[in-house]
Amino acid sequence: MSETLAGALGVLPEELLAPPVLELVGVRASYGPIEVLHGVDLTVRAGQVVALLGPNGGGKSTTVKVACGLLPLTSGELRYGGRKVDGISAQDTARLGVCTIPEGRGIFANLSVRENLWLATGTGVSRAAIEEAAFGRFPILGDRRNQLAGSMSGGEQQMLALSRALATDPAVLLLDELSMGLAPMIVSQMYDTVAQLVEEGISVLVAEQFARTVLPIADVAAVMLQGRVTAVGSPAEIDADLSTTYLGG
Ligand SMILES: Nc1ncnc2c1ncn2[C@@H]1O[C@H](COP(=O)(O)OP(=O)(O)OP(=O)(O)O)[C@@H](O)[C@H]1O
Ligand SMILES: [Mg+2]
Repeated sequence: MSETLAGALGVLPEELLAPPVLELVGVRASYGPIEVLHGVDLTVRAGQVVALLGPNGGGKSTTVKVACGLLPLTSGELRYGGRKVDGISAQDTARLGVCTIPEGRGIFANLSVRENLWLATGTGVSRAAIEEAAFGRFPILGDRRNQLAGSMSGGEQQMLALSRALATDPAVLLLDELSMGLAPMIVSQMYDTVAQLVEEGISVLVAEQFARTVLPIADVAAVMLQGRVTAVGSPAEIDADLSTTYLGG
């Protein structure tokens, strides 16, 4: 079957799809004795933005934590580029090209913008190169280079967090609630940036409670309910589903 025909029929055979960069297969994970992921299956392919949607407590953040090695899985498999990497440490994931912005953005409020960026030089990139990349992408960070990060707006802090993550030159970026606490205009700016990163070759998994903010830039959307992925499809399909399964819009 030709690629166009397969595409038109909506049934792309495996060999025509981009290779998977990140896979969770039957993943279970717990906090202490309480299991919260009950067999999660999720695939992010090269060059894709995958939106992970669903209501509070569904397991989105936990899935992101497992995917970047912050939380161990109790069973199932985590794979990077087709290779099993269960038991990997969060430090090793960065080396393998998977990078996350943790909840709360992971920036140091009492350090300046530049000092926060410098902390990313542990990955072998020079301070000058990190600053140039960050200030080139977000000129406002350049204007505020000596300001304490904690005194910046939420949007500026998110730009700083994103710049720090990008300093490691990741192949896969994991984002959790990029929109948290931000004005709608800033959210759409952040997602424009994400779309631009994808143009540059990064693959993205983004957990979002508010579907409408991320669906426009997503290639694939997945819905999580009670520790499982209950639906995967095109953004249009999932958008239609969402109004019936839960009110995320
Ligand atoms: N550190 C923790 N210790 C114990 N239970 C936790 C912890 N973090 C999350 N949980 C529980 O795990 C379940 C899944 O939470 P998770 O944060 O993954 O959901 P979520 O989909 O990201 O929700 P939200 O949309 O509110 O961010 C919830 O029942 C939550 O209470
Ligand atoms: Mg969450």
